[in-house]
Amino acid sequence: MILLTTTGARTGRQHRVTLGVLDIDGRLVVVASAMGSPKHPAWYHNIRHNPLVTVETEDETFEAMAAIAPDRDALFAKIVEREPGFAQYQARTTRILPVVELHRLDRVRRMGDWLTEVHDWMRTELKELRGRLDAGGSLEFRSRCLGFCTALTRHHTGEDMAIFPQLAARFPALAPTLTKLGEEHVVVARMQEEIQRLVEEEGDPARLRTEFDRLASLLEGHFSYEEQAVVKALNALMPAPDVG
Ligand SMILES: [Fe+2]
Ligand SMILES: [Fe+2]
Repeated sequence: MILLTTTGARTGRQHRVTLGVLDIDGRLVVVASAMGSPKHPAWYHNIRHNPLVTVETEDETFEAMAAIAPDRDALFAKIVEREPGFAQYQARTTRILPVVELHRLDRVRRMGDWLTEVHDWMRTELKELRGRLDAGGSLEFRSRCLGFCTALTRHHTGEDMAIFPQLAARFPALAPTLTKLGEEHVVVARMQEEIQRLVEEEGDPARLRTEFDRLASLLEGHFSYEEQAVVKALNALMPAPDVG
């Protein structure tokens, strides 16, 4: 048994319930069974609005991110094997009993921190490039600027295709923010194309500086907003990729 504290979706107040928790293959899971009643329990609504929760066990208290389990059916089958009572709860209701996984935040595996490191590298690179632009766009500036654009495109493609869809599926509260971040990626991509064109054509240097500054300030806001929104969730969910 654990005490789970969530934040009320409507009230914003702390909401504490006692729940049975199961350890399934090292994963901490709870079932929103409400003993088979027709409605989801309040705590389940709450975690869909705010996934950050506190878990109290007999001997410790820790923060966790409550995520919708991606492999719900397989997990539920294992839960029923262990605790057949859940099959009875399921039989009492037409709703599919949600399975929620509690990811401890004190045992992070650092995908979120890795994202911040990538952003920091890009922040430094933007400053460096801006300095070189003032000194007059050399050949070195061109190749470095194009290299930066390639890295940025790859980063945003990874977020759009892999990271954001996983986060949205498991933390519904993040979905609107992720949509907004994805829209910013589209704006960034358009600005990048324009900059790449200006660099390759060796066109108007003043225009290039203006466009570059616009991109840099947009990215600054984008990185901070993204970090605020997703770092905790990513730390809870994913290991940092195994790259240098
Ligand atoms: Fe992004
Ligand atoms: Fe990013």
